[in-house]
Amino acid sequence: MIKGLIFDLDGVITDTAEYHFLAWKSLAEKIGIEIDREFNEQLKGISRMESLELILKHGGKEEAYTEAEKEELATQKNEEYKTYIKEITPDDLLPGVDTLLKEAKEKNLGMVLASASKNGPAIMESLEIMDLFDGIVDPASLKAGKPDPEIFVKGADMLNLKPEECVGLEDAEAGIESINAAHMFSVGVGSRDAMKEADYAVESTADLDLDTILEKANQD
Ligand code: BG6
Ligand code: MG
Repeated sequence: MIKGLIFDLDGVITDTAEYHFLAWKSLAEKIGIEIDREFNEQLKGISRMESLELILKHGGKEEAYTEAEKEELATQKNEEYKTYIKEITPDDLLPGVDTLLKEAKEKNLGMVLASASKNGPAIMESLEIMDLFDGIVDPASLKAGKPDPEIFVKGADMLNLKPEECVGLEDAEAGIESINAAHMFSVGVGSRDAMKEADYAVESTADLDLDTILEKANQD
């Protein structure tokens, strides 16, 4: 019986996945590396420093910078990212998300945020949805990020539920892997190809229907 929902943030609740891409693309261009949307699928769900490492490897520059220089590059990306997110308001919830969260609350489902982003709490405040949630897993507390199951297992723990009693919602390949490894029912948002490992997938958040999700997850 499903009693909780564990949400990714970027690309599931709000369109910040696009802002991460734009900020990484601009940072990469500054150091002579081209990234496109296809490559960007690999960056979804993983931490800031892991993203930078993948970009440097993609451009054949994995040995080009010291640790301090890499920290500086990651900071530059985050500064540009913060200029995008400072404009976020409740109108920036992705289509269908407001209804989904409110219906889940009415059904007394527990809700936790499981995002790799250190900007997550600030974005949740700007979206004005924090009061609907029972908590946020602190990404700094993790031994391993997505695709490791730890973040989703901790999310279920916060609700005092077993992973099998929760549904995880994600737009990242690494995130779906993390949910599946936690033995949780996975709901994917995105292209059929990127979401091929999800237990149930939709192309857009507008297609997320709580009754359908619960019916499918409870049958599992
Ligand atoms: C994830 C995003 O939610 O958070 C990644 O999908 C991002 O793209 C990661 O790199 C870390 O975010 P932040 O805000 O801590 O740089
Ligand atoms: Mg995401």
